[in-house]
Amino acid sequence: MSKCGVVGAGYVGLATAVTLTHLGHEVTVAEVNPERLATLRDGRSPILEAGLEERIAQGVADQLLRFVSDSREAATEADFVFLCVQTPMGASGRADLSYLEQAAEEIGSVLAQDAIVITKSTVPVGSSRVVERVIRREDVKVVSSPEFLQEGSAVHDSLHPTRIVLGCDDQAAVAKVATLLEPLGAPMIVTNPASAETIKYAANSFLAMKISFANSVAAVCEGIGANVDDVMLGIGYDPRIGVAFLRPGPGFGGSCLPKDLGAIKASSEDAGYKFELLDAVERVNEQQLERIVNKIARHARPLNGSTVAVWGLTFKARTADLRDSPAIEIARRLRERNARVVAYDPTVAQSGPELEGIDVVTDPYAATEGASALAVLTEWDEFRWLDFEKVASLMKHAAIVDARNLLDAAPLRKLGFEYEGLGR
Ligand code: NAD
Ligand code: UGA
Repeated sequence: MSKCGVVGAGYVGLATAVTLTHLGHEVTVAEVNPERLATLRDGRSPILEAGLEERIAQGVADQLLRFVSDSREAATEADFVFLCVQTPMGASGRADLSYLEQAAEEIGSVLAQDAIVITKSTVPVGSSRVVERVIRREDVKVVSSPEFLQEGSAVHDSLHPTRIVLGCDDQAAVAKVATLLEPLGAPMIVTNPASAETIKYAANSFLAMKISFANSVAAVCEGIGANVDDVMLGIGYDPRIGVAFLRPGPGFGGSCLPKDLGAIKASSEDAGYKFELLDAVERVNEQQLERIVNKIARHARPLNGSTVAVWGLTFKARTADLRDSPAIEIARRLRERNARVVAYDPTVAQSGPELEGIDVVTDPYAATEGASALAVLTEWDEFRWLDFEKVASLMKHAAIVDARNLLDAAPLRKLGFEYEGLGR
């Protein structure tokens, strides 16, 4: 059994912590946000993630997991310290490393002799060196091990990683981390820190590229009478392409893909290369928001002064995360064009600062009352099973813009709805 410290109790920190306790290690998690910490100490999860709360409870019951407010306490005596703090978008698209540097500064002097620090946060090339410089300890080695989990399946993805990347020039340190994580049974890629850091950004950029590709093909399909769902299935069966991440939608959002695209573009430019492919990926993503708004406007007839019902506010289903959600951006643009937006999302109980100007209701039908169009912006499964006869009777004008291709068009049209999806 090893002693592990985890700095930052967000998606990555908590998933890492319960994975380590699952492997039988003793884990101390540090979290500076007092509300988050109180929730965790109360035995609850501060984020919506399948299986997380149960695993936190199990870890605490097994006396393997505890939560503290200070990273120094988590790092003291630990054999391994995982840095899982946020790295938001900073100036001109670059990653803001201030939280990472702060965490490294805090733990530097208290780390045990020969401790290993593992950077899980998404960080640009050179960040391992930054952490080493801030820690200022010859005996302590820093390993870059980016995380690839998806929100909504964070615990599962962390317990069953598709691969483990270890970036470090010190082979002894790599061997120790490899031994720690080897029971997860994932392929391991051992490389230098710059490659490990690049793998993470390249992976997210590639995923974003697939989505923009799917959204572009959807736009083409609309013009020529093809069905994008069939087209994506038809190309996805080719193992060189793969079916994943080819679902058209309102554009990719969330706390990672957009910021990581910005960061890799900035790093590329610093390295003397203009990553124009990613400029196009971003442009398509931006156009996609406008395409959805225009579809809604066409059906609301007119948008100006009318009410639009929105189902789904999170950046995707199975998460309560609203960060950089395309749904919120679309709602903002609808309001800019003088529409009233009434929204329902299964994870949102009330309007918070990020939802300013949106009327949030806690019942999907209430959102549609008097609406001139209904926009489905997050692919929550429960939306499929609602009573659409009732929805039609509540709306002023029965029209649905399905920005996730979630619903079945034929029965809706039979009920008298105008239905418009993406590329079909
Ligand atoms: P998050 O914002 O949910 O969590 C980070 C936590 O760290 C916050 O609760 C914050 O209060 C805490 N924190 C910051 N500084 C601290 C300190 N000095 N001591 C103790 N706690 C501190 O972030 P996240 O979504 O878990 O992402 C973390 C990193 O992992 C980012 O770099 C992100 O890009 C990357 N990542 C995220 C995901 C994801 O799906 N969310 C997946 C892979 C990688
Ligand atoms: C993404 C990556 O998928 C993870 O591998 C990575 O670890 C993580 O970012 C990160 O670095 O933080 P996540 O942010 O949870 O994970 O979200 P995704 O599932 O990738 O979805 C991102 C956005 O793309 C969402 O808005 C989603 O609705 C959209 N999307 C996704 C599509 O529009 N179509 C698709 O086919 C897939």
